[in-house]
Amino acid sequence: MGDVWSISILNSQATERLGYPTQKPEKLLERIIKASSNEGDIVADFFCGCGTSITVAEKLKRNWIGVDINHLAIGLIESKRLNPLKAEYQVIGFPTDQAQAEKLAEDAPFEFERWVVEYIFKGHCTSKTGDGGFDGHIAFKDGKSKKLCLIEVKGGACGIAALRAFNDTVRVQKADMGLFVCFEKRATSGMKKYCDNKGFIKIQDSLFSESVPKLSIITTEQILNKGFPVWMAQFLYNVTYT
Ligand SMILES: C[S@@+](CC[C@H](N)C(=O)[O-])C[C@H]1O[C@@H](n2cnc3c(N)ncnc32)[C@H](O)[C@@H]1O
Repeated sequence: MGDVWSISILNSQATERLGYPTQKPEKLLERIIKASSNEGDIVADFFCGCGTSITVAEKLKRNWIGVDINHLAIGLIESKRLNPLKAEYQVIGFPTDQAQAEKLAEDAPFEFERWVVEYIFKGHCTSKTGDGGFDGHIAFKDGKSKKLCLIEVKGGACGIAALRAFNDTVRVQKADMGLFVCFEKRATSGMKKYCDNKGFIKIQDSLFSESVPKLSIITTEQILNKGFPVWMAQFLYNVTYT
């Protein structure tokens, strides 16, 4: 092999492209992994980004460990790479039960927000320099155009006043919808009713055409028990980064 490998850059039109800015081509990792390991060996990548190395390791029947500081990267690896391969794996580092979620919210509120916005909803956290009244956002496809959803995460005390303030932010920011995330014990019936009164928007898609609520409360219990409302699958399917 020469010193410069022409396969080290991912073609802008490549079908394997996920939109992760530093993604490497599978061909490159295939060459490296085949040259340096055998079936059954362990491949470890401690800055694995969107997981090219561990995906190739899985395909080449290696065991693997992938680590990344970016929550969104971990979510992308699961949904776009490991799950389609039906790979067996365990994610370590995110809350898996109520007690862990409450502890994270208390000990590290910003990490709690990142878990919700980046890992669960595959969105982007809002810069903390100016308080815009929301913690993150997602863009989702609506036919040929895009819609904007704001996310507000409350790991501690909150009530109808916080929900009203968030709804005002959604309106002022000209966003299409809002997700308000809190613990079940904080979500009062008055808050749920307030959301119900805000109505629905339609999402167009070649596969689905679905109504989603303009304002919704999603509880950490729903997140942990994978008990999302039915429309959420459609919504997450339509999240886009382009
Ligand atoms: C150059 S990218 C890796 C790209 C990867 N080869 C791919 O194909 O997607 C480097 C990664 O290191 C991660 N990173 C940066 N600092 C880190 C840290 N302290 N611990 C773990 N990961 C970190 C970034 O989030 C980024 O995804």
